Amino acid sequence: MEAELCKLVGNQPFDSLLDLGTGTGRILELFKDQYRKGLGIDASRDMLTIARDKLDQSGITHASVRQGDIFNLALERESYDLIVIHQVLHFLHDPAPAINEACKMLAPGGRLVIIDFAPHELEYMRSDFAHARLGFSHESVSGWMTANGLDVEKISDLSSDNSQDKTLTVSIWLGKDPRILMAGDNSASIA
Ligand SMILES: C[S@@+](CC[C@H](N)C(=O)[O-])C[C@H]1O[C@@H](n2cnc3c(N)ncnc32)[C@H](O)[C@@H]1O
Repeated sequence: MEAELCKLVGNQPFDSLLDLGTGTGRILELFKDQYRKGLGIDASRDMLTIARDKLDQSGITHASVRQGDIFNLALERESYDLIVIHQVLHFLHDPAPAINEACKMLAPGGRLVIIDFAPHELEYMRSDFAHARLGFSHESVSGWMTANGLDVEKISDLSSDNSQDKTLTVSIWLGKDPRILMAGDNSASIA
């Protein structure tokens, strides 16, 4: 999955990464050589402690993590070139407002990448792992992206590398903000 994600994002440098529901900070680590500054947000203090340790161990000084709620981000709007929501949406009963909030943080021309399960019928994921949703169709996530003005540039499906459930498919959606920032101008215009 990580290889596919890296391929999708490409290897060009970019200014800022926002990782929503950062958990252990894996996404901040994965793209560390490409962004100038990275920020991970998570609701769980325990996960943030682990993420900070991992960033320290990896010598990553240009990323930080902080506590926050994906539904209500206390961040400067239109400031991030790449926003990632990796394996978080299935914990949310209603993901649409979270995607709406994420889109507000995208810089003109920025990209939103969502990685989550395709629709499945593994009911035990609700009871055993607190999943609120059993995956998402291409249309659902694309619809939430387009409702926020993004162009859906690519959708990929991958077999899960979860050894317990070979039947699970992981989908990756790449949405792009269509605005471009004109040189020497702070106002964005539609491309
Ligand atoms: C399965 S983990 C994924 C972590 C990371 N994105 C990864 O893939 O390695 C889901 C994370 O989402 C966080 N989370 C769940 N609901 C959240 C919310 N409303 N706001 C912020 N973080 C949330 C959890 O605390 C958890 O760390």
